[in-house]
Amino acid sequence: GASNRVSIVEMAPRDGLQNEKVPIDTADKIRLVDLLSACGFERIEVTSFVSPKWVPQLADAADVMAGIARRPGVRYTVLTPNMKGFEAALAAGADEVAIFASASEGFSRHNINCSIAESIERFVPVAQAARKHGIAMRGYVSCVVECPYDGAIAPASTADVAAQLMELGCYEISLGDTIGRGTPDAVDRMLTAVMTTIPPARLAGHFHDTSGRALDNIGVALDRGIRVFDASVGGLGGCPYAPGAKGNVDTLLVDRYLKGRGFETGLSEGALATAAEFARALRSFT
Ligand code: HMG
Ligand code: MG
Repeated sequence: GASNRVSIVEMAPRDGLQNEKVPIDTADKIRLVDLLSACGFERIEVTSFVSPKWVPQLADAADVMAGIARRPGVRYTVLTPNMKGFEAALAAGADEVAIFASASEGFSRHNINCSIAESIERFVPVAQAARKHGIAMRGYVSCVVECPYDGAIAPASTADVAAQLMELGCYEISLGDTIGRGTPDAVDRMLTAVMTTIPPARLAGHFHDTSGRALDNIGVALDRGIRVFDASVGGLGGCPYAPGAKGNVDTLLVDRYLKGRGFETGLSEGALATAAEFARALRSFT
C-alpha cells in the first residue's frame, strides 16, 4: 500500500515569484530560499532558466543560484525550457531540472511559443544532456483539466503528454491544474487516464488554489495513491501566461491538511511560518 509519508515540493521562489510585476531584489529571493532550506523540504524549486523577455522577474536566476546557502539533503531544482536553459542550469549547479509541457495547444503556444509536439522535440536534447550529466529531470504537465485558452481538456490528452514526458526520462511527472479550475471529479477522471500508463509513485499533484478547491483535489490524488504535492509558502504564485491563475496552494495549509489525515511531511511548522511571513511581506511590497 501507499506509505504514510508525503513529500511537499516547495514552489514559492519559482512559481510563487515568476508572476510578480515589480522587481524583487535578488538578495530577498536568496533570503526566501535560505528560510525555506530550514523547513525540512527535500526539494525546493529555486528559479527558472527561461527567456528574461518572457519572465523578467527571474532574469537573475544565476545570481540567485550562486547566492543561496545549500543545505545538505535539499535538492535545489530549476525550470529549463530548452538547451540554453539547461546549459545555464548546469553552470549554476542545479541539482535537478524540470521540463514543462502543456496538455493543451493553446497554453503551449502562449507559454513556450510552440506546439506540444514541438516542445517534446525541444526536450529531447535536454533529456539527453541531463542523463549525460547525471542530473535528475522532473516533468510538468500544465492545464491537466482546464486551459485558459482551450477550455476543458480531455483526460486522454493529459495522459498522452504525461506518458511522453515519462518516456523522455523524467523520474516524476507533476500534474498541474494551472488555473485552479479543476473539480475533484475532473481531477479523478484525469488521474484514471494518466494512471493507465504511469503508477502513482511517479506522479505529483500541482494545484493552484484559484477556486479554493486545491485541498479537495489533493484529497482525491491522495486517495489514488499520490504522495508528492507542490505548494508555495504564503500561497504565492501564478503564471504570467495563464490569465486568472492565482497562487499555488499554500504550503502551511497542505502541511496541516496532510497531518490531519495522519500523514507525515517532515516539515517544521515554525520554520514554515517564518518563511511564509517573509514571502507575504515580499509580495506586499509589490
Ligand atoms: P521564443 O521567443 O520562441 O525563443 O521563446 P527563441 O528561441 O526564439 O529565443 C528568443 C530569445 O530568448 C533569444 O534572445 C534567446 O537567446 C532567448 P535574443 O536573441 O532575442 O536576445 N532565450 C533564452 N534566454 C535565457 N534562457 C533561456 C532562453 N531561451 C531562449 N532558456 C521560450 C521560447 C521557451 C524560451 C520562452 O517562451 C520562455 O522562456 N518561456 C517560459 C515561460 C515560463 O517560464 N512560464 C512559466 C513557467 S510554466 C508554469 O508556471 C506552469 C507550472 O507551474 C505547472 C502548472 O502550474 O501547470 C510549471
Ligand atoms: Mg504552477
